[in-house]
Amino acid sequence: TWTMLNIVDEQVARVREQIGDKSVICALSGGVDSAVAGALVQRAVGDQLTCVFVDHGLLRKGEAEQVEKDFVAITGARLKVVDAEERFLSALAGVTDPEEKRKIIGREFIRVFEQAAREVVADGGDGNEVEFLVQGTLYPDVVESGGGTGTANIKSHHNVGGLPEDLQFTLVEPLRELFKDEVRKVGEELGLPPEMVWRQPFPGPGLGIRIIGEVTRDRLEILREADAIAREELSHAGLDRDIWQCPVVLLADVRSVGVQGDGRTYGHPVVLRPVSSEDAMTADWSRVPYEVLAKISNRITNEVREINRVALDVTSKPPGTIEWE
Ligand code: XMP
Repeated sequence: TWTMLNIVDEQVARVREQIGDKSVICALSGGVDSAVAGALVQRAVGDQLTCVFVDHGLLRKGEAEQVEKDFVAITGARLKVVDAEERFLSALAGVTDPEEKRKIIGREFIRVFEQAAREVVADGGDGNEVEFLVQGTLYPDVVESGGGTGTANIKSHHNVGGLPEDLQFTLVEPLRELFKDEVRKVGEELGLPPEMVWRQPFPGPGLGIRIIGEVTRDRLEILREADAIAREELSHAGLDRDIWQCPVVLLADVRSVGVQGDGRTYGHPVVLRPVSSEDAMTADWSRVPYEVLAKISNRITNEVREINRVALDVTSKPPGTIEWE
């Protein structure tokens, strides 16, 4: 629309003025905000931007590809991908405590990003010094944090500390004046795909906190398949914009007996956690139509061999949180 076009033009001009002929780096998470911020900065300064995507192996099906293929194809951004799955899984081996998982994932993320940033700075990209770091800070974040700016904290979705002294950047925050719905519209204006722009909130620690028990590669694979089916059916049913988010949770240490064909199974349950909410502070369980739930349950138990039971979480928040960990 006209106004979104104005916002894009205005921000592009501002970013261009701020960055000048210097270089800039942007961490992509797979989420809406970093993608839109990165696309805007790319439009403003082109190859002066290097995007960094740390693939921690905890994303959902198709999300890494969305960043590596679609985002790059649409924006033309230079992207450095760090495949860190192995590293994250080793660090998470044997860990079952939710807060411990968060700490480990946050810590590894910062370490890997630091290393990648050093390499980008050393490459110099276009030969210029890298002085700027893009952050997808939104207006509500600005208000919450008291309006400050300019420091090089990688606030990040992991809520962990800042970067070391020798990696200090000036922040570029092109979404600072926007609300979430405006960010989505700007994303559409910039040609980003609907699956990226309309992606529901997804926690930084990713599927790592949706496997109850130890996080392993096999378990991630199982959860990824089940989650993809749930997402697909909810989308088909046209429920994407009614549901705030729908975690699919794998109870990896629980087994129950089932029957399939003429054989007994002894598989794992998944829990569907569709919620409606305004801001994630409170939430109610979504009254998803029975037929949609039936379709999801049939497909998951038929298509994901290790899962033989699908349960529905009918707890509001409070007392339940949205995520199970
Ligand atoms: P809870 O489970 O606390 O979740 O009701 C509220 C919202 O926050 C998301 N969430 C997280 N986001 N890092 C994040 O970036 C986290 O560790 C984290 N834990 C929960 C959750 O998906 C929901 O939208």
